[in-house]
Amino acid sequence: MIPKQSFLIGAATAAHQVEGNNIHSDYWTQEHMVHTDFLEPSGDAVDHYNRYAEDIRLMAEAGLNAYRFSIEWARIEPEEGVFDETELSHYKDVILTCKENGIEPIVTLLHFTSPKWLISKGGWESDETPEYFARYTRYVIERLGRELHYVCTINEANMGIQVAAIAKRYMQQMMAKMQSGKSDGTVQMGLNLEKMMANQQAAEQERMELFGVTKTECFTSPRTPHGDEIVIEAHKAARTIIKELAPHIQVGLTLSLHDIQALPGGEENAAKEWAEEFTHYLPAIKDDDFLGIQNYTRTRIDASGILPVPESAEVTQMDYEFYPQALEHVIRKVAKEFKGTLLVTENGIATADDSRRVAFIEAALSGVQACISDGIPVKSYLYWSLMDNFEWQKGYSMTFGLIAVDRTTQKRTPKPSLSILGNLCRNMNQK
Ligand code: BGC
Repeated sequence: MIPKQSFLIGAATAAHQVEGNNIHSDYWTQEHMVHTDFLEPSGDAVDHYNRYAEDIRLMAEAGLNAYRFSIEWARIEPEEGVFDETELSHYKDVILTCKENGIEPIVTLLHFTSPKWLISKGGWESDETPEYFARYTRYVIERLGRELHYVCTINEANMGIQVAAIAKRYMQQMMAKMQSGKSDGTVQMGLNLEKMMANQQAAEQERMELFGVTKTECFTSPRTPHGDEIVIEAHKAARTIIKELAPHIQVGLTLSLHDIQALPGGEENAAKEWAEEFTHYLPAIKDDDFLGIQNYTRTRIDASGILPVPESAEVTQMDYEFYPQALEHVIRKVAKEFKGTLLVTENGIATADDSRRVAFIEAALSGVQACISDGIPVKSYLYWSLMDNFEWQKGYSMTFGLIAVDRTTQKRTPKPSLSILGNLCRNMNQK
């Protein structure tokens, strides 16, 4: 049992990135297209589907007390209206294993992947999607709600709108990147823009054959303002159902939030960015119990727009600036406008040098502690990610994990950062 007052320190994963063989999902189909945007398919991933007990035990032994993971809609409802009891009981086992190990399970209902059938029906631009999401939520919460204290409805609700808004700038940036070898880290997930552009036309034809639609509106596809409304509606519908079935559950969504810094002359541009990324969601989330903050780096803006990473800066494998102070800045900014609990649901670094991961975590967590000392209600720090895993279009090339995985044997090797994070958890909860 986790004492109620504890500060939650743990790690996060998403089903598709770690479980393996998510065959009924939209991502699986896209990974296997001839004209795919993915560097490699997810395949067996890191076989967390079968090895979750070992992974949870490693977390507990290191001293972590929370695990954020997602339930995969495509497993629970592989065909429209057909719900799979066996998959449901799999997730029940994962939750119970967490509890047996003294780990608080924090469940996400949608982490980027959707069932393939949903995309064939118009996906995240279709007015019907909130109802489908609500039906799936009802099925899950009716059966698992009593075991849970925290549910994130949707991971990075703002991802699609972020992708859409910056697609143009990103293309320019990719051109610059090809020349200079650097990018500005403006999208906090692994994308492969060059490959995406080259494949576009041929891919359209193939999508038509596979999904029955030429434009696949997946969760992370560039989103229209109407699509943004649909995501918000889906969140609200899920929240209502969760509160009806299990009022004890704390509900919220998570947002991808950069530490947006205005340089002289860039104030207006920066305010616009922040409004798009965060402020315009306030009416939709004001009744939520918590907001999940997900941050990886900062973005500097001047009168001309977003600036590249400074020449002298250390960069991560994702080409983001190494800038762990960003988390504290984002928390302080969010806390001015959102009055509920704040959970840090993701913060992390892709690096081959674990000592840099340790430095990143220590700096980020001390920022969190400073916020808490100032009375900001931050209740968790969840590192992304528990294990090296499938970084979407970038495949397995990015190593975010506290645990390394040899994908030929699926052998786990904890990195020093895992036990260091565990010790930080013990220290914070002794105070
Ligand atoms: C996502 C994760 C992703 C991580 C690192 C976040 O955008 O929620 O799925 O792997 O960032 O890029």
